[in-house]
Amino acid sequence: MIRFEGIHKSYSAAGRETVALHPLDLTIEAGEVFGIVGHSGAGKSTLLRLINGLETPSGGRLTVDGRRLDTLDGDGLRTLRRRVGMIFQHFNLLSSKTVVDNVAFPLRLAGVSKAQARTRAQELLARVGLEAHRDKYPAQLSGGQKQRVGVARALATEPKILLCDEATSALDPQTTASVLQLLDGINRELGLTIVLITHEMDVIRRVCDRVAVLDAGHLVELGPVRQVFLHPQHPTTRRFVAESEAIDENDQHAQYAAIPGRLLRLTFTGDGTWQPVLGRVARETGIDYTILAGRIDRIKALPYGQLTLALTGGDVEAAQAAFAAAGVEIEELRR
Ligand SMILES: Nc1ncnc2c1ncn2[C@@H]1O[C@H](COP(=O)(O)OP(=O)(O)O)[C@@H](O)[C@H]1O
Ligand SMILES: [Mg+2]
Repeated sequence: MIRFEGIHKSYSAAGRETVALHPLDLTIEAGEVFGIVGHSGAGKSTLLRLINGLETPSGGRLTVDGRRLDTLDGDGLRTLRRRVGMIFQHFNLLSSKTVVDNVAFPLRLAGVSKAQARTRAQELLARVGLEAHRDKYPAQLSGGQKQRVGVARALATEPKILLCDEATSALDPQTTASVLQLLDGINRELGLTIVLITHEMDVIRRVCDRVAVLDAGHLVELGPVRQVFLHPQHPTTRRFVAESEAIDENDQHAQYAAIPGRLLRLTFTGDGTWQPVLGRVARETGIDYTILAGRIDRIKALPYGQLTLALTGGDVEAAQAAFAAAGVEIEELRR
């Protein structure tokens, strides 16, 4: 659906050149929820704005929905933008228009009659659960409701792609969860391709299928969320994951150094998450264990558990073999 080939982007302002994106290759498949995580200034918004032609690449080839962006004229670009909806951190609603007219606005721009645009807007408001608020103004809505209007407006022109620029960053955790659930439903029911950028790994964990990590304009890690989140490789990715688990890595290392035994991180996924593997292996092999850290949660719909253990006594080698035989992934943090 979206293909970046050697795409790079620099800005020049006041005689100074800033490289926002170094040359990168990236393919986003139709129907997937693709997340891009990075710190402020990493180049996330630049990457997103290239997709709907709001920014022009400094070089490379960008193909969206089968069309090379550099070959599009003004009309082509306008058509593309109707196929690519966008939602924003601060919602960008028109304060002087009612909810229903905000949603109808892109249709009016596209030349749809007022009556027809309103009918369609009404349907969209029902989809996002806001039909009762149609005649209010944005100032009368909560943040979560404003973002729902943003989603309805973005869907008005029946786009194939939805771009989300930090769409939940201004919302509290509970509202964030409900907006992410809405996006998940839209992806599944309408088959929309969603590209979402965020500085929070937790947002990625809840809705994305694949993730790319941007660090100072470089794409440093890319893969299925399950792989990247459970086994982060790049230091920046590790920091994002640790942040999402509220772990202070320095504290953790100091703590672990004081504990004897072999340190293992076990990862249980799917049905294995609910099996009494640890107790059984301990009984069979006579190991003792201390649980140093642990989490049971979900990656999108996939349940997972991750435990950091110190193993002492018993047959540690046999225990590792037994964990592996039970389908548990094992990383040795220290022998
Ligand atoms: N219009 C612009 N003119 C000049 N520099 C820009 C412009 N937009 C972004 N930048 C610079 O490009 C880099 C990446 O910015 P951005 O894509 O907004 O990152 P992010 O969304 O990850 O915070 C930053 O150094 C930023 O200052
Ligand atoms: Mg940004």
